Amino acid sequence: MENWRGARLMVVASVVAIGWLSLVVMGSPVLHKVGGSKGWINHDVNYTEWAAQEHVYVGDWLIFKFDRRYFNVLEVNKTSYENCIDRDFIKNITRGGRDVVQMTEARTYYYLSDGGYCFHGMKVAVQVQEYQDPALAMVAPAPSPVVSGSSVFTCIWIIVANVVLFVNLMVVGIL
Ligand SMILES: *[C@@H]1O[C@H](CO)[C@@H](O)[C@H](O)[C@H]1NC(C)=O
Ligand SMILES: *[C@@H]1O[C@H](CO)[C@@H](O)[C@H](O)[C@H]1NC(C)=O
Ligand SMILES: *[C@@H]1O[C@H](CO)[C@@H](O)[C@H](O)[C@H]1NC(C)=O
Repeated sequence: MENWRGARLMVVASVVAIGWLSLVVMGSPVLHKVGGSKGWINHDVNYTEWAAQEHVYVGDWLIFKFDRRYFNVLEVNKTSYENCIDRDFIKNITRGGRDVVQMTEARTYYYLSDGGYCFHGMKVAVQVQEYQDPALAMVAPAPSPVVSGSSVFTCIWIIVANVVLFVNLMVVGIL
């Protein structure tokens, strides 16, 4: 009885691990907290430095955490970002102060806070890259074969995962 339970646990653990690894391999969306632990705030964070060490891919999310009594989050274009122009913004991201936005295109997104805080550094430019399979990127850095290569890699991965699952089921004696 104890053995049976242990084996079942092993199967469950394997399935969870396979699912998790599949997500990692296939590129699960990541939530990036803008500004790190300090969040979206006046003065305290250099957002240029924050953005420089962040790798953001299409499908990822940004979360802005801030005090909405003072600050907000507006998406603007490059010119407005550079000059801290908060009129005629592209999109108002502001909701309750824990606000998320998904990066849907490979381009640079520009955000700032109005109320003059942009002039104190409350602005960020986030470069969003097309997702590339890290395993494949090492072998073939050229962008063209990535799409087909990626699906081949995924197929192989799914086959491996199924074999592992099959072996596990054999061990437990379900099959
Ligand atoms: C932020 O850091 C960058 C790079 O280190 C620097 O060039 C820039 O002047 C800094 N900005 C502020 C507002 O301190
Ligand atoms: C950027 O936005 C500002 C404010 O809406 C506008 O005046 C300007 O023409 C825009 N620049 C570009 C390059 O789209
Ligand atoms: C942005 O949206 C928030 C919440 O809907 C609103 O309170 C705020 O006035 C808006 N800001 C601008 C500049 O439109």
